[in-house]
Amino acid sequence: MKNSVTIGKSDVTTGPLGLGTNKVGGHNLFDGLKDENGAAVVKAALNNGISLLDTAFMYGLGKSEEIIGDVIQDYDRSKIVIASKAAQDPNNELKPNNDPKFLKNSVDKALERLNTDYIDIFYIHFPDDHTPKAEAVNALVEEKKAGKIRAIGVSNFSPDQIKEANADGQVDIVEDNYSLVHRDAEEKVFAYLKENNISFVPYFPLASGLLTGKYKSADAKKFSQFSSDTFDKIIDSLAKVKAIADKHDATVAQTILAWYIANPNISVVIPGARVPEQVDSNAKALDVQLPSAEFDEINKLF
Ligand SMILES: NC(=O)c1ccc[n+]([C@@H]2O[C@H](COP(=O)([O-])OP(=O)(O)OC[C@H]3O[C@@H](n4cnc5c(N)ncnc54)[C@H](OP(=O)(O)O)[C@@H]3O)[C@@H](O)[C@H]2O)c1
Repeated sequence: MKNSVTIGKSDVTTGPLGLGTNKVGGHNLFDGLKDENGAAVVKAALNNGISLLDTAFMYGLGKSEEIIGDVIQDYDRSKIVIASKAAQDPNNELKPNNDPKFLKNSVDKALERLNTDYIDIFYIHFPDDHTPKAEAVNALVEEKKAGKIRAIGVSNFSPDQIKEANADGQVDIVEDNYSLVHRDAEEKVFAYLKENNISFVPYFPLASGLLTGKYKSADAKKFSQFSSDTFDKIIDSLAKVKAIADKHDATVAQTILAWYIANPNISVVIPGARVPEQVDSNAKALDVQLPSAEFDEINKLF
């Protein structure tokens, strides 16, 4: 299991378990969120020694960054790794914009909302359809030289777009949809990332809660991306993960997170949370040591 990871070619280091914060202030994305829970979620992460906080302008159109900016004032900034993202243009119906000027302005605004003088990792959240990728990345290279950001990331880029973005070898990290039930990245990008010393962070690692084991066959409608047959197979596989989890006195979510933490293709896993209790529980994934036979068994179950 990894204790500390370095992000790409940068000097950013962090633990292998982070926090996803789209439910911290992400009122535009999810119903029924409470800001006080959002702040408590971030505090729970920091109190558990989780250092990487994954946020974005898009989570509450700045609200998530503001909540994080408030909370971190009471903590040692040097021990926190902030990852944020921009692309959705608030002046153009939130359509992706990778224009160098737009990205630089987005970094400045994120710094203000986060109430900090540097952002550890800054991602282009989505590609647009016209800016040459290397030009967009070069805007972030300039922000890195200016000391405003420390590492450069791209998210939701196709394999070809990742290569184009990394033409000058400046991309440190890629964030993409990946989980035990959504494994395209294994074939399509892992080899390229490894060869080019680019870190990988999966989003939706718990498949939006499905991989915590809290859903049953009857909940298939909530996960319309899966056919009912596939959904039933996932539920069966989760019952088998539960048997492994029981041996470790752990939950299904902790065991699944431990699988990502043990996975050499993954740098940092960033499960999201709605309430602090979920963070407290997920943090215990760091105590679950999966022997290689169990790692392989979980790998094959999905
Ligand atoms: N780059 C991108 O385009 C992109 C896209 C999506 C997400 N992200 C990032 O990736 C992070 C992770 O994705 P995600 O949060 O959407 O999905 P996720 O990590 O797959 O699932 C998180 C959700 O599962 C539930 N959960 C978490 N721990 C639990 C526990 N111990 N017991 C029971 N339920 C639990 C919570 O939702 P409920 O309580 O509501 O069930 C939580 O919000 C995000 O927070 C965000 O930072 C990035």
